[in-house]
Amino acid sequence: MTLQEIYHSFEEKDKAAELGGGEKAIEKQKNAGKQTARERIDMLLDENTFVEIDKFVFHECHDYGMQNKRIAGDGVVTGYGKIEGRLVYVYAYDFTVYGGSLSRTNANKIVKVQKLAMKNGAPVIALNDSGGARIQEGVMALSGYSDIFYQNIKASGVVPQISAILGPCAGGACYSPALTDFIFMVKEKSYMFVTGPDVVKTVTHEELTKEELGGANTHASKSGVAHFVGEDEEETLMMIRELLSFLPSNNMEDPPIVPTQDSIHRESPDLQTLIPDDPNIPYDMKKLIEEVVDEHYFFEIMSQFAQNIVVGFARLGGRSVGIVANQPAYLAGVLDIDASDKAARFIRFCDCFDIPIITFEDVPGFLPGRDQEHNGIIRHGAKIVFAYVEATIPKITLITRKAYGGAYIVMSSKESGADVNLAYPNAEIAVMGAAGAVNVLYRSSNEEERQKALNEYNELFSNPYRAAEKGYVDEIILPKDTRYKLIQALEMTANKTETNPPKKHGNMPL
Ligand code: HXC
Repeated sequence: MTLQEIYHSFEEKDKAAELGGGEKAIEKQKNAGKQTARERIDMLLDENTFVEIDKFVFHECHDYGMQNKRIAGDGVVTGYGKIEGRLVYVYAYDFTVYGGSLSRTNANKIVKVQKLAMKNGAPVIALNDSGGARIQEGVMALSGYSDIFYQNIKASGVVPQISAILGPCAGGACYSPALTDFIFMVKEKSYMFVTGPDVVKTVTHEELTKEELGGANTHASKSGVAHFVGEDEEETLMMIRELLSFLPSNNMEDPPIVPTQDSIHRESPDLQTLIPDDPNIPYDMKKLIEEVVDEHYFFEIMSQFAQNIVVGFARLGGRSVGIVANQPAYLAGVLDIDASDKAARFIRFCDCFDIPIITFEDVPGFLPGRDQEHNGIIRHGAKIVFAYVEATIPKITLITRKAYGGAYIVMSSKESGADVNLAYPNAEIAVMGAAGAVNVLYRSSNEEERQKALNEYNELFSNPYRAAEKGYVDEIILPKDTRYKLIQALEMTANKTETNPPKKHGNMPL
C-alpha cells in the first residue's frame, strides 16, 4: 500500500468508528429524542476542543458470539477538551453500541480518563445513557464498575466530578453518578433506579412508571438524588458549563475570579423593608440573596428538594461563594432531615474546593414530631454542625431574623467556628421563641402574668444585643449595607489558614 492509501484507509476507519453502532442505531437514538454521544460532547465543550482517545479500542468478549460483533471504540466515547478555556475530561456512554452497556473495555477507557484527570487536576464530566453492565460479559463488566467507583471515590475532593443522566441509568450504574459531586438530569428523558418498574412490581406489588419511579422530577424533588434538571439535553449541558464557572479545576487551585461591573459598595434600600414587622410573617430569602450578590445572579442547587433550606453558588466582588440559607417562605425555614442532608453535603463540597460559605440564618429550630424523630433528625441534624465545624474555609454568618435553640448553634454560630458573625437589628437570638418560653416557664400563671413575662422575654432576647454584648455577634448591620459588609468579611478572611487536628478522617454521623 502507498502512504496515501494508508492515510485513506485510516480516514475510512476513523469515519466508521465515529458512527458507533451504525446509522440505524443512530436513527433510533434520534427518534427517542436523544443526541449521540459525540454530539453531546461537542455541545458541552468549547468549539473544536475535543480530543478523543481510545477510539480504536475493541471489546474482548468471546461469549455469545460477541467475537464477531466488535465495534471500534466500544460503547463509550472518552477524551478531553475545554470549557471556557479550561481543561476538562469527559466520557459519554454511546447508547448506539449495545445500549451503552458497560464492558470491561469501556471501563478501562473510563478509568484511563479518571486517572488523567486526577494527575492533571481537571474536572471529570460523565454523560450517562446506558443499559448498565454488559450482560454478555458477566463479572468482567461488574469488575469494570468496581474500578470506576474506586476512581470516583479516590478523586472525590481532588477534582470536581459531574454526572449528567441523559437516558436510562439502571442498576449499579447509578452508583458512579451517586459518588460524584453533582447529578444533572433531563426532564422526561432520563431515569435512574436500582431496580426498574418490573422488578418493583414483582417484589412490592407497586405499579409505577419509569418516570414515577426514577424520573428527573422524582429525583429532584423527592429523593434528593438529582441536583439539577434541564428542559432538554442542550439546557442540561449548558448548566454544567455554568456550574464549572464557579469551581476551581482541582483542590489545589482557587476558584476563578469573574470581574464584575456591580459596585462592591452598592446599597440595597429594598432590603430595609423586605423583612415584615411581624416575625411570624414569611418572606422570600432568595430575594435577599439575589439582592446582595454580584449582578443579582444566584445559581441555585436542588431548588425543588427540601425547600426550607436554600443552597447554591453566587459571586461577591467577583469571588465564588457557596450560599446556605434558611427559607422562611417554606415551612418557616425549619430544619428537618432533608434540609440537614442537603446543607451538610453542600458545605462539605465547598470545603473540598476552598469556596467560602455565606450563611443567611432565619431559623425557628428543628422540626418536631414522631416522623422526624423516628427517622433520625438527631443523626441527620448533627451533620450540619459537623460539616460547618470541620470546614476550614472562610465562614460568614448573617442572622436576618430568628436564630433559636440548637438551630442557632448548628447554623454556623461563632462558637461553631464561623469567622464573621453579623446580625440585623431585628435578629432574635434565644433558646426558643417568646411564646414557647413563656409556656414552659409560666405554665401555671394567669394571663396577665404571662403577658408580662412575654414582654420581658421579648425585650431580653428578641434582639441581637445580648449576643453582641458577649461577642457571639461581631457586628450589627442594617439590611441596606449587607452586600458591602459581606464583601468586607470575605476580603478580611481571604487568606485564612486553619487546619484540623491530624487524623485519618472524622466520623461524621452518616
Ligand atoms: C447488553 C444491552 C444491555 C445490557 C441494553 N442492551 N442493555 N446489551 N447488556 N445491559 C442492548 C439491547 O439488547 C439492544 O440491543 C440495545 O442495547 C438497545 O436496547 P433496547 O432495549 O432496544 O433500548 P430501549 O428500549 O431504549 O431500552 C433501554 C433499557 C433496556 C431500558 C436500558 O435495554 C434494558 O432494560 N436493559 C437492561 C437493563 C439492566 O437490567 N441492566 C443491568 C443492570 S444491573 P439490540 O441489538 O437489540 O439493538 C447492573 C449491575 C451493575 O448494571 C452492578 C454495578 C455495581
